[in-house]
Amino acid sequence: MLKTIHSAIFPLLCGGIVSFYSCTTTKAVADNDSQDISLKEAFKDKFYMGTTLNAWQLMGRRPEELNIAKTQFNSIVAENIMKSGRVQPKEGEFDFTLADKFVEFGEQNDMHIHGHTLIWHSQAPRWFFTDNAGDLVSKEVLTERMKTHIFTVVGRYKGRVASWDVVNEAIEDDGSYRQSNFYKILGEDFIKLAFKFAHQADPEAKLYYNDYSMANPRKRNGVVKMVEELRREGIHIDGIGMQGHVGLNNPDLEEFDKSLEAYGKLGKIMITELELSVLPSPWGDAGAELSDTYTYDDKMNPFPNGLPDDVQQQFTHRFIDFFKLFLKHKDNITRVNLWGINDGNSWKNNWPVRGRTDYPLLFDRENNAKPVVEKLIELAK
Ligand code: GLA
Repeated sequence: MLKTIHSAIFPLLCGGIVSFYSCTTTKAVADNDSQDISLKEAFKDKFYMGTTLNAWQLMGRRPEELNIAKTQFNSIVAENIMKSGRVQPKEGEFDFTLADKFVEFGEQNDMHIHGHTLIWHSQAPRWFFTDNAGDLVSKEVLTERMKTHIFTVVGRYKGRVASWDVVNEAIEDDGSYRQSNFYKILGEDFIKLAFKFAHQADPEAKLYYNDYSMANPRKRNGVVKMVEELRREGIHIDGIGMQGHVGLNNPDLEEFDKSLEAYGKLGKIMITELELSVLPSPWGDAGAELSDTYTYDDKMNPFPNGLPDDVQQQFTHRFIDFFKLFLKHKDNITRVNLWGINDGNSWKNNWPVRGRTDYPLLFDRENNAKPVVEKLIELAK
């Protein structure tokens, strides 16, 4: 399988389009590529191997990427097209054009389909929280809007989308509740209501709470406390999503392990948005607070023309270390999902600094499997 992707592209690649570094890296895959099984086959007894799909891919503009999704992965999640701002841009006006295509793609390819995300303060339309005068709406109005949104979206895909990120990013890194508009209007109840509505809309769907920096001890404590509280109140929640926007040095693997342990005691775990940035981080931590952005500076973009082999090796080792942890906790993990298919389409090229060249995913910019892919397949054995 990997050989097929590679042999179609390798001759083109080393014809001079890409840098020396990428060519040596790709060659290493060619020489060692004796594998004939895919990532999804290698991990099939452990957990789903998932990837993200975006609008361009679903509109047919990136057929090679879609092909990788089909051949290497058995689970999909929408990168943006199921967020509230996309499916309900105006109150009561739903647009499911791309979301329908996404779900159909998963069904046609016999994939597990994960829905992302129902209730999130970011990429939500303004109208959700405000009245005609622009003031925050009452508890009753917001509850009704949440109910309509969740019932319409989850209801449309009932029995087809297997699991949902019901609430995204409600806890701050210090473990306190984020002061989002949802929280300002409804307090902690917004989380309970969201899970209650999602469960009513599709009682069979698996329901998750999803967040970033989940290996941070203070955040871990906050999330554990919140989930225990939901359980005490009889709210249905199946598990926790650890986003997994990680870097070469952060987070600490021991802390990641402790979080897997702690969340595993509460339910199932999904590694929901995995990618491994090789670039320096402006604040030295791996997170995904979208409002934190930094101005471009050459020092922050060390590999514009290709990834040096030593960094590629660090990347491979670190990826393997994470997967060793996932395998250790495989009984609690239901899905490990890459946040994108190839390096060229990763959001990390533009966040937290715009215009950089990052290498965070399993396939390079020409859709070749990186050396790490074969190593992961070997590890799964
Ligand atoms: C967060 C969200 C994702 C996505 C990433 C950036 O992690 O959960 O949907 O927006 O940020 O791509």
